[in-house]
Order: sequence, then structure tokens, then C-alpha cells
Amino acid sequence: MAIEIKPLPPQEGRDTDFGAEVYNVDLENLSDSDFETIHNALYKNLVLVFKNQSHLSPKAQYTLTNRFDPSAQTYGHGTSIPTAKKSILHPDLKTVPHQPQVQVIGHGFVPEYEGLKNIQLKHPHHKTFHRDAIPEEKDLDFTRFYRWHIDAALYELYPPKVTTLLAVTVPKGRRQTLLYDDGSGETLDVPLGTTAFVSGERMYEILSDEEKEFVNGSRVEYAPHPYIWMNQCRALPTGLGLYSEGRELPLSDLPEIDESKIQILPMVWKNPVTGNPALQIHPSAVRKIHRADGSVIDDLATVRDIVYKLQRPAISPKYVYPHDWEEGDLVLFHNRGLLHSVVGAFGEGEVRIFRQCNLAAGESV
Ligand SMILES: [Fe+2]
Repeated sequence: MAIEIKPLPPQEGRDTDFGAEVYNVDLENLSDSDFETIHNALYKNLVLVFKNQSHLSPKAQYTLTNRFDPSAQTYGHGTSIPTAKKSILHPDLKTVPHQPQVQVIGHGFVPEYEGLKNIQLKHPHHKTFHRDAIPEEKDLDFTRFYRWHIDAALYELYPPKVTTLLAVTVPKGRRQTLLYDDGSGETLDVPLGTTAFVSGERMYEILSDEEKEFVNGSRVEYAPHPYIWMNQCRALPTGLGLYSEGRELPLSDLPEIDESKIQILPMVWKNPVTGNPALQIHPSAVRKIHRADGSVIDDLATVRDIVYKLQRPAISPKYVYPHDWEEGDLVLFHNRGLLHSVVGAFGEGEVRIFRQCNLAAGESV
């Protein structure tokens, strides 16, 4: 049977134009032509959902991810950096012993999984990152976007091309109301523990002509060791970047900085198949903006403000695809054409197990 690609059905109140489900494919044994089909479908749809993949081995997950970028070897967030323990990403990740490029993430106590024993997983909760959290008593009913991001180290290593996420165990049943809490009054009904996606292509499309001109010519400089640099910072209630309160670690307190490893990346990245431009900025890690005329905006509050205004319209509810995870879903997404966020707060005894793989790219954007 030929591989079938079915665009996600339209949903009332939603104006998203990405995402598709894929059927009739054996991910353990992908022929070159199967891979070609998936490759093109991914870049056309940005997110692909393969249903019923519970049997997928960590090796096959790695192989699929790696096939998008054979030159990629290192884990995408760069945990090989010796001081990564200070990084805000560190507590959320456990590595599969026999397939170290694949991480186990989730929530709750897991006695045994893929050679890992007695592991305690923790779903990131917005109260650990946002400046102002939803009050405890409302925590099971209401939630936030935890942190909008691209999967990327943003120092030394290039942003991964794709990420794969496999839902192994999913607690079902509850829904939550996601609050923007930014004065807009916007809310979004979401399944518990959804992963929220927005299209960077749409984010670009809805900019004004003036903004497009600005972003086309601008590059973003990221902080060195950004996840250590920001580890005392607090996020906005939309999870779209940080407050500027002087809480960034001084560069002298960071691990050694090699200037040549600082990443200065375009704001606009091009889809390798369709050529569509996408606005791709990691809002929490930005430090400076380099303009087309060679000038540099280096006032952090101004930089964050500019980026926020460019990105905020595209995370409004109608542009968000909150994936409703079912056990066995393998989601493959175009990390250089989307922003995504963890969402949700699990209760006592709600156990979730996911496997994630992404690989720092062999080339820049
Ligand atoms: Fe991520």
C-alpha cells in the first residue's frame, strides 16, 4: 500500500494550515522512496503524526531523525557541554542507555523503561519559569504555554532540522483552559499535556510589509550558553520570552566563552522544499539584533520588546495547533519552521512517558 498523507481536518475557530497524519508506513524499515515521501510531506506540512507507533524502537526513532540530516551526530541541545547541569534544560531529560541520542521525558515515577530504572520524570511546570504563576487552587483546571521555543543549543551547535516525539504513556481524560494572562483575554481549550505548535511561516506571513523588511534583513545574536545565562530569569505569562529585570547571569559567571561559538542566525529561515520563509526566533535566548545596515541593537529590553511584537500575533488561539496526544503517536516536526511549547500541569499519580530525539545540525540555516 502506498503511503497516505492526510492533512489534519479543519477545526472550528482554528486557522492553522499545517499538520498531517501519515498512514501505511513501516518506520522500522523505511525504503529510500518512503523516506523521500516523508521528507517532502514533512516540509510541506511542518508537522507529521504517525499513529500507532508504540512498537517503534529507540534505534528506529534515532535512524528516522538522523536521516533528515546524516551529518548530525550530537544531541540537539548539547548536553555534552560539561557545565550543562546548571542549564535550565538539564532536569527534564533522561537518556536511553542503549540509544543515547534519544531522551525520555514526561511526568511521574517510572520503575523501568528501556533500561532506565526507578526514574522520576518531571513535566515542566510554568510556575518554575513564569514570573507570576496561576494560583495553586486553580492549577489543575488552568494552564499556560510553558515556553515557546525552537529545539536548539543556540551556542556552538546548529539548530536541529527535525525533532521526533513518541508518546509511550499518556494520562487521558482531562482538559485544561490555557490562559494567556497578558491583558488580551485570550484563552484556549487544550487537552492535558498537549504540545502546542505554531507555524513560523504563518508568523512571517502576517507581519506588516515594514516588519517583513525589518526581519528579512535582521539577524539575531543569541546569548552564549543561553540556558545557563537565563537560569535566574522569569518568563512572561504567554511563555513567549522573558522579563527584563537584570536577572541574566553576567558573562563572567558563565562557562568559558568562545566568541566563535556565539550564534548569530537569520530571523527568517527558508523551507528547504517549498522555499517559504519562516520567522524563527527563540524568544528567551535572544541577546542582540544585527540590522541590515550593520548596526546592532544591544539594549536587551528593546531587543525583547521588538521580538515579542513580531511573534505575539502568531500565537493567538486561532493559529495554535495543540496536539491531542494518544499513546503510540509519533510526531515528527520541522524544527526550523515552527515554534512549540510544552503545556499543562499533571496531578498526583498522572504518569506520562515520552521519547524525544533531535540532533544538532551539521549546517547552519
Ligand atoms: Fe522542545
